[in-house]
Amino acid sequence: MEAITNQPYRKICKRYGADILITEFIASDALARDVQMSVQKMNFDEMERPLGIQIFGNNKEMLVRATEVAQAARPDFIDINWGCPVKKVAGKGSGSGILNNIPKMVELTEAVVKATNLPVTVKTRLGYEEKSKPIVEIAERLQDIGIQAISIHGRTRSQMYKGEADWTLIGEVKNNPRMSIPVFGNGDIDSPQKALEYKNSYGVDGILIGRATIGNPFIFKQTKELLMGEIPSIIPIEEKVLVCKEHLEGLIELRGERNAINEMRKNYSGYFKSLPHFKPFRLKLVTTNDLKEINQTLDELQTFYQTQTFDHLHNLEEE
Ligand SMILES: Cc1cc2nc3c(=O)[nH]c(=O)nc-3n(C[C@H](O)[C@H](O)[C@H](O)COP(=O)(O)O)c2cc1C
Repeated sequence: MEAITNQPYRKICKRYGADILITEFIASDALARDVQMSVQKMNFDEMERPLGIQIFGNNKEMLVRATEVAQAARPDFIDINWGCPVKKVAGKGSGSGILNNIPKMVELTEAVVKATNLPVTVKTRLGYEEKSKPIVEIAERLQDIGIQAISIHGRTRSQMYKGEADWTLIGEVKNNPRMSIPVFGNGDIDSPQKALEYKNSYGVDGILIGRATIGNPFIFKQTKELLMGEIPSIIPIEEKVLVCKEHLEGLIELRGERNAINEMRKNYSGYFKSLPHFKPFRLKLVTTNDLKEINQTLDELQTFYQTQTFDHLHNLEEE
């Protein structure tokens, strides 16, 4: 996920149980032209394997060149993004913009498959718009030209992120007797319970969790615990603060202090929003540019909630 699954955060997710990691999406044109910001997005650590480098684009030569560049970075697989709905991507026929031209989608995907000896996977949506959701046919055709797995977000391009993800068609793809490659489902999984329920209902080979992982790497651990029949752990506040600080430090190393402080802002709610009275802490965290103040606020937050927990337990005892 763009500006989310950068290397420091992926490593944290891996530690908490994410089985497969994928880089942020990277523009094939930029990789082909050796744009350093994009090239850096391919950096990863051995501990992150199995890892996929995700590329997007709409020009065959650029996609092929980007595939060669990505292969040289030695990932475990290459993932093509045919799912992004935002205008600057889909508007140019990349991402989910390709979904109104399936022959071209198949042609470009085949070019990527042929350009590498690494497995190629695809991430896509149900179709371009409500009246056309050809995902069952798309999955068959992409399997036929050699992709090794497909991940499906249960929305159309027109839906962007609105409405509810429809998993019934994802289930149809999975249960299509013609399909033999792994089929992964995606869309609206925001709790271990929902992951378990959807995995059982639709029989998918795996689940991608997107927005619910923002500032919440713990969801991987909790989901795996539930899938194994255990009760999901409750993550203590000290651990959340520690991981949050580690995340920020990793981002500082990657992007420099100023950019990291900015980028980290979208993560705090994920880490702490479930806690009552988080609002004033959040306000401080997302408005200051001072690293010392951020760390101090995180320390204060920890002390506050440790006391809260104590009071809570104390009240329970009195009851
Ligand atoms: C901020 C943001 C950035 C994203 N970047 C990517 C991306 O780079 N590649 C990708 O395949 N999907 C990307 N997505 C889409 C998610 O991977 C996922 O398909 C979508 O959010 C639906 O899943 P969810 O309901 O679990 O969030 C992004 C989503 C968000 C909100």
